[in-house]
Amino acid sequence: MQIKSADFVMSNSEVAKCPAEFIPEYAFIGRSNVGKSSLINLLTNRKNLAKTSGRPGKTQLINHFRINNNWFLVDLPGYGYAKVSKSAKKEFQKFITAYFEQRKQLVSAFVLIDSRHEPQKIDLEFMRWLGEREIPFSIVFTKADKLKPKALERNVKNYLEQLTEGAWEEPPNYFISSSARGDGRDEILNYIETINRQIRES
Ligand code: GTP
Ligand code: MG
Repeated sequence: MQIKSADFVMSNSEVAKCPAEFIPEYAFIGRSNVGKSSLINLLTNRKNLAKTSGRPGKTQLINHFRINNNWFLVDLPGYGYAKVSKSAKKEFQKFITAYFEQRKQLVSAFVLIDSRHEPQKIDLEFMRWLGEREIPFSIVFTKADKLKPKALERNVKNYLEQLTEGAWEEPPNYFISSSARGDGRDEILNYIETINRQIRES
């Protein structure tokens, strides 16, 4: 898919106030600092469309971007960031949960996982939560440039094994990305384009 336009629409903390337009929507979610905003900038080919930062907790609201005037891309705040206050964390969690439970336009989520790390409880729990609610999602293993190919392959395999252990028969669809090198861009955009086409034709 070619990105012809990528426009910031609005930020807010209430799912009820999100854009009313009914076009397919894809949300990017994951722990703070995993690289959500950087991946959105890579996908859209814009350096500063989504605000990035070396310090976790940069994105604090639901941010809608309209792409090619026919689908929404959503940048969400990171979950599990220890340094925001407990009440702020609860507030985040409430509107993230509400977003996933109520947003009718949502077609699929992308759950970002830092490819360097062992599976973390909060990510596994979040994906199981999505699974229980039958909310479709793919995994994106980020920061692939930070690992040697063999280590990357080992981590991804191990991750998928732990995620599915005793719970699911099949691992979810997944991508490997590097916002530094550009890996994963074409694959993710083609995937979105394929789904958008299926929706248009159905
Ligand atoms: P919050 O909004 O705080 O939840 O974080 P985020 O998930 O949006 O992460 P963000 O995109 O702001 O990136 C966090 C840090 O990781 C920044 O310093 C990025 O430059 C860096 N980063 C993101 N993706 C990559 C990547 O693929 N490779 C490398 N080497 N660094 C990355
Ligand atoms: Mg962010």
